[in-house]
Amino acid sequence: MRASRLTIFIYASIIGVPLLLILMVAGLLANNAYAYTVLPILLSLALILFGVTGIFDVFVHPKYPGSKNRISEGTHGENKEAPKARSGKEINFVLRRFNSETRKFDRTTYKTRATDRTTILGALLDIKDYQDNTVSVRCNCRMGICGSCGMVVNGKPVLACETSVLNVAENGAVEVAPMLGHPLLKDMVDDFDDFFERHKSVEPHLYRKDVKEKYAAKSEYKQSKDELDKFLPYSYCIMCGLCLDACPVVNSNPNFIGPQALSQTYRYYADSRDQRGKKRLFDADTMDGAWGCEFSGSCSKACPKGVDPASAIQLLKGDLMKSLPEK
Ligand code: SF4
Ligand code: FES
Repeated sequence: MRASRLTIFIYASIIGVPLLLILMVAGLLANNAYAYTVLPILLSLALILFGVTGIFDVFVHPKYPGSKNRISEGTHGENKEAPKARSGKEINFVLRRFNSETRKFDRTTYKTRATDRTTILGALLDIKDYQDNTVSVRCNCRMGICGSCGMVVNGKPVLACETSVLNVAENGAVEVAPMLGHPLLKDMVDDFDDFFERHKSVEPHLYRKDVKEKYAAKSEYKQSKDELDKFLPYSYCIMCGLCLDACPVVNSNPNFIGPQALSQTYRYYADSRDQRGKKRLFDADTMDGAWGCEFSGSCSKACPKGVDPASAIQLLKGDLMKSLPEK
């Protein structure tokens, strides 16, 4: 309530000050008596209000950067005193942190509390906010959309923001480690450059022969439900990299392009609007492409979006077999 009243004051001052100034200048030009008496008093009052609300906003209100009462968003800053009445079950959070200087892992245990609504990401940000602000975690949406918070919890690759602490805790403990299927940067943060290079290498976009027509199409490219069903599940990929982390082949042969890129190859190959044709299929026809897959299925098991890369790869293999005489 206090915030909304403050906002009204701010807007009233922002609009009121210039308005009064304009009225005063107009009054002075017209030699109006109010321009010398009432308007300067109102203008002074408006300026004082403007100043006071501005100072309050910047230095006191929790939403703003300079405020001493600022609510932490789990990024940087000094560790704050933990809220006194924290509820929930006590959990030992064991972090297997990658130390970028020694290139080794450090195990650190933090005690925290979790309710049935606490996610792994929430608990990590809490630890970062109130216990150790050197803990590095990558996150963004906090709702399973951006794919930034992939990590390994109790040995399983998961999205930290979608994983409940109490659901995975074993004997009151949770172990969190970074994904090992990607180069490591620090703590739980992986380097995704290589992952995105693999993704880009399969040209993950609709290819149209007539580029001019693509940008000036008279209407949308229509598809039947059957045409849509062929690729829709594979278009749900959020590029979290969990499938790569889970894939035993990527982990033993770094040249294998991996389940994510192959599922995207199939996603565009199966899209009736795409005009790359069989080139997409034949590009995957290598031992580091579709034939590198040993069908362990762990990519599909790890995928938080139900993309099922393993099935995409088998469909690629099947279509390659059918295209043998053509090649
Ligand atoms: S296929 Fe699934 S696990 Fe792999 S990157 Fe996409 S969303 Fe993540
Ligand atoms: S923070 Fe975006 S998926 Fe977890």
